[in-house]
Amino acid sequence: MVTFPTRPLHGLLCVAALGVKAVPDSNYHAPQDAAATCQAIAEAISSASQVYYPGSTNYDADIAHWAFSSTQNSACSVEPGTAEDVGKILQIVGAARTPFAVKGGGHNPNPGFSSTTGVQIAMTRFNQVVNNVATGTVDVGAGLTWDDVYDELDGSGVNVVGGRVTGVGVAGFTLGGGYSWKTSQYGLTIDNIVAFELVLPNGSVRTITDADKDLWFGLRGGGNNFGIVTKFTLKSHPQTDVWGGLLVYPSDQIDALIEAIANFQDSVNDTKAAVIPALAASDPSAVTLAALVFYDAPTPPAGIWDDFLAIETLQSTVETQSFASFLTALPNAAKGPTGRGLSSCVSVLKYTPALSQVIYNETVFWAGKLAALDNTSSVGYNIEPFSPDLFSFGTDSAYPPSRAQPLLPTNMGFSWTNPALDSQFHAAIKQTTETIKAAAIRDGQDVADVSIYENYALYDTPLSEIYGDNVARLKAIKATVDPQNVMGLAGGFKF
Ligand SMILES: Cc1cc2nc3c(=O)[nH]c(=O)nc-3n(C[C@H](O)[C@H](O)[C@H](O)COP(=O)(O)OP(=O)(O)OC[C@H]3O[C@@H](n4cnc5c(N)ncnc54)[C@H](O)[C@@H]3O)c2cc1C
Ligand SMILES: *[C@@H]1O[C@H](CO)[C@@H](O)[C@H](O)[C@H]1NC(C)=O
Ligand SMILES: *[C@@H]1O[C@H](CO)[C@@H](O)[C@H](O)[C@H]1NC(C)=O
Ligand SMILES: *[C@@H]1O[C@H](CO)[C@@H](O)[C@H](O)[C@H]1NC(C)=O
Ligand SMILES: *[C@@H]1O[C@H](CO)[C@@H](O)[C@H](O)[C@H]1NC(C)=O
Repeated sequence: MVTFPTRPLHGLLCVAALGVKAVPDSNYHAPQDAAATCQAIAEAISSASQVYYPGSTNYDADIAHWAFSSTQNSACSVEPGTAEDVGKILQIVGAARTPFAVKGGGHNPNPGFSSTTGVQIAMTRFNQVVNNVATGTVDVGAGLTWDDVYDELDGSGVNVVGGRVTGVGVAGFTLGGGYSWKTSQYGLTIDNIVAFELVLPNGSVRTITDADKDLWFGLRGGGNNFGIVTKFTLKSHPQTDVWGGLLVYPSDQIDALIEAIANFQDSVNDTKAAVIPALAASDPSAVTLAALVFYDAPTPPAGIWDDFLAIETLQSTVETQSFASFLTALPNAAKGPTGRGLSSCVSVLKYTPALSQVIYNETVFWAGKLAALDNTSSVGYNIEPFSPDLFSFGTDSAYPPSRAQPLLPTNMGFSWTNPALDSQFHAAIKQTTETIKAAAIRDGQDVADVSIYENYALYDTPLSEIYGDNVARLKAIKATVDPQNVMGLAGGFKF
């Protein structure tokens, strides 16, 4: 989860309106070949699909991203309505070698990962949720956000293992791994997939299950390297009302919060309980402290939340409610920073008081240092404890490269406005990443060489730091499935 507060702190996740228009650039001219590719696509696709050009509202929505800095003006956008049309589009961009992008929820802040100056593919028309009661599965279209899915399943008595806040796309989230409110209970989202409907880079449509050894392995954590997914089939789990919401604490309660985090890890072994403690600031003298708390039943057993609830609060939205309603009780994450944004990750084994103290110091330090550069900037750090058994629910997958030890994906997000400062903010987020990693190592944690989470990783992270020993196998699978390197025309971490 990425925290980008606004100033003054209205909430933890940025509540400012996301500019839905592309970065204004009157000098922009689509590359000639991209324009021809758009034309060819428009002629090839069925009436279920459509191509849009700058100036149309569909185009604006299709290229829009959570962080303004990951939106680009494409030559055109296309909204495919069938998997066969996705296949035609891939064949055309592949033959023409036109850069393209595929966007699910558009929440990845890495520039160019789901945006392009070529052909923007927006998956919004894949918007079906089908609850297959007989098989205990749910089919989810690749263009949906998790809140769409939860809303659709609300009241059905079942739910799936998906995103933790509003606005995050099903597709990118799942293809990277997926840390959920239910991950301690049921594993990552990829551990709850039954099938992918995949359009291969050559345009063929396939259903991929555990019978397809290589693609099954690659798609679970391997991002957009193997084609475009149009549908995910997920296991369903029983869903009652849940208990949870947002607790916001005064800055001076940091020591109590750090102690609550430590105690939660030491004494709570109930996998229905999950928490994201979050620190955010745009002013070093006013750090917002919060805990997003969740228990997967109407009433948590006595004791579990005593520490978090005993701390004086400025705000609490904690109550018993439906799962879909719980999501709306958290900060609104559907809208991101109106300016620039980056996220990064440090995997740790435990949030000891010493490590949490360093994370707090980093929050204060960078809020001050970066505010001096850009007074619209803000920093956010999320502490993400899970059960030590979180990787025990799935089989070998692209991510994590080893399931032998649990990894807790600490996530930080920086936001700012002035594009001239991009490289300085990039250097800053890299530096804080290294500082926190060094602190975990100093703490005695064996994390010098562990994998970091693809969906939180900064865009220039080497493949080996995400996929470890899996890189060679993933490259081999990619070479077989995509010999023409069609997916190499799209951004992302590339095998
Ligand atoms: C506010 C916020 C909260 C978050 N919370 C969590 C969390 O709780 N847990 C967690 O694990 N992560 C979380 N994340 C990280 C999130 O998982 C990633 O940002 C993820 O990439 C978002 O998916 P998307 O579909 O919205 O992104 P997009 O930007 O649309 O896509 C991301 C990547 O997936 C590829 N892709 C998209 N659709 C397809 C498709 N149909 N087929 C093939 N490739 C595709 C894109 O090409 C791109 O490379 C959060 C991020 C934000 C900004
Ligand atoms: C969970 O913790 C309780 C109390 O500390 C203990 O009695 C119980 O055995 C633990 N359960 C598991 C599965 O570890
Ligand atoms: C706080 O963090 C900054 C930047 O990483 C560092 O220079 C400073 O020594 C830290 N202070 C403490 C008390 O750890
Ligand atoms: C932020 O900086 C800009 C430009 O440097 C300045 O015009 C503005 O007044 C500043 N705003 C605040 C709240 O300090
Ligand atoms: C597309 O690629 C798949 C997997 O490599 C292969 O099985 C299939 O025959 C190919 N289809 C076409 C039309 O070439």
